[in-house]
Amino acid sequence: MSASLTVAVVGATGAVGREMLSTLASRDFPASTCIALASARSAGAVVPFKDGELPVRELTEHSFKGVDLALFSAGGGTSETFAPHAVKSGCVVVDNSSAWRMDERCPLVVPEVNPHALACHKGIIANPNCSTIQMVVALQPLHKAAGITRIVVSTYQAVSGTGHKAVTELETQVRQMFNMTEPAVSVYPHRIAFNCLPQIDAFLDNGYTKEEMKMVMETAKIMEDPSIKVTATTVRVPVFYGHSESLNVEFARPLTAREARAVLSVAPGVTVLDNPAEKIYPMPIHAAGEDNVFVGRIRQDESRPNALNMWVVADNIRKGAALNAVQIAEQLLRDKLLRVPDPGAFA
Ligand code: A2P
Repeated sequence: MSASLTVAVVGATGAVGREMLSTLASRDFPASTCIALASARSAGAVVPFKDGELPVRELTEHSFKGVDLALFSAGGGTSETFAPHAVKSGCVVVDNSSAWRMDERCPLVVPEVNPHALACHKGIIANPNCSTIQMVVALQPLHKAAGITRIVVSTYQAVSGTGHKAVTELETQVRQMFNMTEPAVSVYPHRIAFNCLPQIDAFLDNGYTKEEMKMVMETAKIMEDPSIKVTATTVRVPVFYGHSESLNVEFARPLTAREARAVLSVAPGVTVLDNPAEKIYPMPIHAAGEDNVFVGRIRQDESRPNALNMWVVADNIRKGAALNAVQIAEQLLRDKLLRVPDPGAFA
């Protein structure tokens, strides 16, 4: 790997941006220079990096001169506006927002599932939605084993997925409620402390939320199989870090719970935690701060032939965002794909 790369993190002051910096450092990503970018509000602030700090600079269209790789996590609008400027400067973008995920020019990649999709990138690679990433990491090995035909998923998503402000809101509301004062509601439409919100992102005309439809559309693109039927209910829960998912999965061929456990126990990026007799199963308190996707409660769906139920938990900020983005960058380096084939591709 080249040791002279210049890497920028866009949204470096946010929950995911900070984790991107810490993941680049902890995985020894071969960057000689790291640049922290955020909005004008943060210019002059500092963010932790390795044993020291990085100064935060304001993101502008000129920020990418001489930058080889930019990891974006500053919202869809920022990515839509600035990722094309980065590509024009010859900088490869790995974008954590939803802006480019369904764009045909942009591969949507989970390295354990579809690393080959990177080969045709044109400068922007999309990082999938956090809930989709952990689901496909757990399901791709089972799909190979028995052919998935349908997925019914319900999520229990942590507030950190909404960003730093939502983490603060939950913390503040809990304190306010213990002090018997009225909790202030601003990030979510309702109180999140001691509550569950069956709404993540905006509602669409079909009655589903954008988050639910992301899971449907992104799964088909990543698993490269539009014949797999997916239906989702996504719920925000008062957990700080770690998304959980209840999955009901139907297969074309029979697959027992024991066989599924055996397949998953050797799958990349997966840890099976499944011993009900000892009360061992995945929980957000275990997954937070971990790289792997945890799978447990694997059991036959007794109401359907060839169907299994399972419970999947992962750190939404790590595997669901920052780690997956850095793994994409590592794969690009390994495959010698860290170059922009056509700087005008998104002009
Ligand atoms: P800033 O802190 O300057 O607002 P989170 O998802 O945790 O809320 O973080 C969002 C990240 O995206 C922050 O780093 C934030 O920077 C950054 N951001 C938001 N809007 C912009 C923008 N218009 N230009 C650059 N960075 C932005």
